[in-house]
Amino acid sequence: MTVDTGDFTAWLRDFEGAALLRDTWGDPDWSRGARLEPALVRSLQRFQVGEDGDGASLTAKADQAGDRVYAETIRLFVAEEREHARLLGRLLEAAGAATIPGHWTDAAFVRLRRLLGLRTELVVLMLAEVVALAYYRAVRDGVRDPLAAEVAGRILADELRHVPFHRDRLRRSFEGCSRRSRTAVAALWWLLLAGAVTVVALDHGHALRGVGASRTAFAREVVTAFRGVVADVTRAA
Ligand SMILES: [Fe+2]
Ligand SMILES: [Fe+2]
Repeated sequence: MTVDTGDFTAWLRDFEGAALLRDTWGDPDWSRGARLEPALVRSLQRFQVGEDGDGASLTAKADQAGDRVYAETIRLFVAEEREHARLLGRLLEAAGAATIPGHWTDAAFVRLRRLLGLRTELVVLMLAEVVALAYYRAVRDGVRDPLAAEVAGRILADELRHVPFHRDRLRRSFEGCSRRSRTAVAALWWLLLAGAVTVVALDHGHALRGVGASRTAFAREVVTAFRGVVADVTRAA
């Protein structure tokens, strides 16, 4: 069955272009090594686990949605998130630290996402994307280590594309919903965001402070990015 869910050709080209650029640039110079605060190491280890999801459930749901171009783009998106995990793994290695096998926040997040349909999974995934935006920006701008700043900058550049990519898919999937259900979705979404920001701010507060970002400033940045997304997705056409 083919369902027309909108044209994602421009996004497919965007992800293909980013992959090409990545190949052209090659890797950062890992031999420089990295000196990272222990709190930042622990924090990056948890983000590394989060980036390393297998993406199989999301890919399967995108396939079921029946839009071939979108499904193909989702595969490139999943590959990009895996690339983030690889970069963070190499950065940790350069700092003499190992990756960790798992963390409860990630396990809970993955379990929740598996239970959901594509649209709801994207709603939940968006929480991680806006949190990632603020997190990698804080690390890029505040960390003293140049290798860590480079890795955070590379990941941030991708996360800045991931947010509008998911937003476009979500906007389409909420087309035709009543004003009432959009309002309900927005309210529930904010509630989930509040929970996610609180967990991350508490769990990573120490590391964030180490790169010069207070918990409040971090939460404020997430909220600002999220506000635009919610307005775009749930606004009636
Ligand atoms: Fe990522
Ligand atoms: Fe992302």
